[in-house]
Amino acid sequence: MTTWEPRQTQDGSWTLYNTELGEACHSRDGAWMESVERYAKACRLPERAVELVERDGAGVPLRVLDIGTGLGLNIAAARSVLAGCGVLLQITSLEQDRDVIRAGLELPAANPWHASIAVGLAQALEKPGEIVDLGPSPAGMGESRASLELHIGHGAECLAAIDKRSRFDAVFMDPFSPAVDRSLWGTSFLQEVSSRMKPGSMLSTFSAAIRVRRTLQEVGLLVGPGERVGSKSSGTLASPDRALPAFPAAQARRMKRAAVAARAKDEARRQRANEPSVDEGLEPGSQT
Ligand SMILES: C[S@@+](CC[C@H](N)C(=O)[O-])C[C@H]1O[C@@H](n2cnc3c(N)ncnc32)[C@H](O)[C@@H]1O
Repeated sequence: MTTWEPRQTQDGSWTLYNTELGEACHSRDGAWMESVERYAKACRLPERAVELVERDGAGVPLRVLDIGTGLGLNIAAARSVLAGCGVLLQITSLEQDRDVIRAGLELPAANPWHASIAVGLAQALEKPGEIVDLGPSPAGMGESRASLELHIGHGAECLAAIDKRSRFDAVFMDPFSPAVDRSLWGTSFLQEVSSRMKPGSMLSTFSAAIRVRRTLQEVGLLVGPGERVGSKSSGTLASPDRALPAFPAAQARRMKRAAVAARAKDEARRQRANEPSVDEGLEPGSQT
């Protein structure tokens, strides 16, 4: 039976460790630090808020897709970095295990921002799929209006069921690692995520796996390295159209080699199955 064991991280905030999978929700360096740096700031939420308010005026929605609700730290971090920005943060969060949310609500909150979402998160758990107001920001910390739409179930099924017209300004890609659960890291789910990203939007994930980066490229996103957070030297950023930092030369070479190897493997598979190669299969006049 899965249990979620509380573990305190080095910045004082708590995370939960999944005993069945042997994976914690955050790095030991700091759960709150990871949420702020790897997700809320890496996805440029404050900069995005400025762009949206300049274009559409105060009160404009800023939409975040949060994959893996967990303890709600990413939700609270998004709220905290948007204090005083004048947008209405609308979070759609996907979580397969109600118990992780319940266990998280029993732990000490990381800080007043995390405490401020507890009532809303508990309400959202009772009314999955409904929009819940997250209530007032912590006193004296700047207004940050926010709502939460929590979907319970496998992330792929939840996302497929959300109105196809829903588009997001940011994606927090924070499920379990591909090494323990690959189901959300394959082409079909990431294609669906990519199709939901607005122009100018940003995805951030803790994973720096070459396979993940290649899949993000295959689904049409520009991909770059995420910054060091604590002892984790890199994550991954992706965007439909935003210029991203280049990969360090050694990583770029490894990605190129992996792409060549994947193409060769694919070609060998095709030949075994007697299928035409990609080039042979192109229609006359199609672009390469
Ligand atoms: C790294 S933790 C997320 C931490 C969280 N973002 C936070 O701020 O506390 C990963 C979460 O993803 C959830 N998860 C893993 N696989 C999932 C799936 N296929 N569908 C939905 N949620 C999933 C886990 O139950 C877990 O709560």
